[in-house]
Amino acid sequence: MRDESPHLEGPVVIFGFGAQGRAQALNLKDSGMDPIICLRGSSRRMEEVKACGLRFMTDARAAAGLARVASMLLPDGLQKALYDEALKDALPKGAAIVFAHGISIHSGMIRPREDLDILLAAPLCHGDALRENFTSGKAAACMLAVSQDASGHAADIALDYARCISRSGPFIKSTFKEEVEMDLFVEQVLLCGGLAELIRSAFETLVDAGFNEEASYFCCVKELLPIARLVDTYGIDGMLTRISDTARFGAVTRGKRVISEQTRAELEAILSEIRSGQFIAELRREVELGYKTSAEEMTKSRDHPLELIGRRLGGSGPSGS
Ligand SMILES: NC(=O)c1ccc[n+]([C@@H]2O[C@H](COP(=O)([O-])OP(=O)(O)OC[C@H]3O[C@@H](n4cnc5c(N)ncnc54)[C@H](OP(=O)(O)O)[C@@H]3O)[C@@H](O)[C@H]2O)c1
Repeated sequence: MRDESPHLEGPVVIFGFGAQGRAQALNLKDSGMDPIICLRGSSRRMEEVKACGLRFMTDARAAAGLARVASMLLPDGLQKALYDEALKDALPKGAAIVFAHGISIHSGMIRPREDLDILLAAPLCHGDALRENFTSGKAAACMLAVSQDASGHAADIALDYARCISRSGPFIKSTFKEEVEMDLFVEQVLLCGGLAELIRSAFETLVDAGFNEEASYFCCVKELLPIARLVDTYGIDGMLTRISDTARFGAVTRGKRVISEQTRAELEAILSEIRSGQFIAELRREVELGYKTSAEEMTKSRDHPLELIGRRLGGSGPSGS
């Protein structure tokens, strides 16, 4: 694998060992790289890093000083502080910074030094899936972009890096702007925001009408994964052909009523807020206020009857633990 990535020179230093940090570090290691993980001194993940046989450091400036490639795999809202406090002065001249999501650059929160390559290798999946696909020999899609090409080889480095974390792709050439706008839209209206609201609304409708709470929980939450697997494997059409005749008739006659013209207009409005910069302005205020709105909403979410039932039935807690 290493021979297939001639433009990717180490040391690769990975900042953060969360969902993406862990997966990318292990995939890079299995691809013949020897990444260094930079953790905060207070990190509870130190033992896990050691158990994975990975090198680690806790001094961010010292780690940045070693990097040929610095991979920004800490939460988006913390990346600017890390760049300003450690990377800006310590990264060697001509180094590259790789992002897994382009928002810090696209929003202007990070304004990188001109001698650096600024790259995007954005896996289109959660970190766990990135690792799982890699170990089972499957590919994972990755969007690639360059916003600053100081070396003249930035696109090649991005492609080599992506090959190391997600095997054979597909690698989709893009821009930071496209990746950010698409990612924000899909997570807001479908994968995270829209899906959560639809699940809660269906559950509340059933419970308010007097249906059994536990059965409602199973129908609204636990039946999702098998259906998502069918869509993932066979597409929507394939899913519809594999469910019962009754479910199929209900789906094709009622689904469109859930997504009404008004809902479609809302989707367009949300996309406009993203493209105009309104959402990013709100996000920057949220970061400055220490994620106040997110914390308030998460408290409500944690106390929702659906979560209480899930925990009573032995599901994982809010932290996933
Ligand atoms: N979640 C996904 O699978 C996914 C998918 C595609 C793209 N992305 C992008 O990938 C990037 C990382 O997201 P994530 O969800 O993987 O993050 P995450 O799981 O929330 O990352 C947490 C890790 O970041 C560390 N961290 C926090 N501040 C740090 C600092 N100052 N220096 C070093 N490490 C620090 C934490 O340290 P401690 O160990 O001390 O807590 C922890 O190891 C983001 O740009 C995100 O948009 C994520």
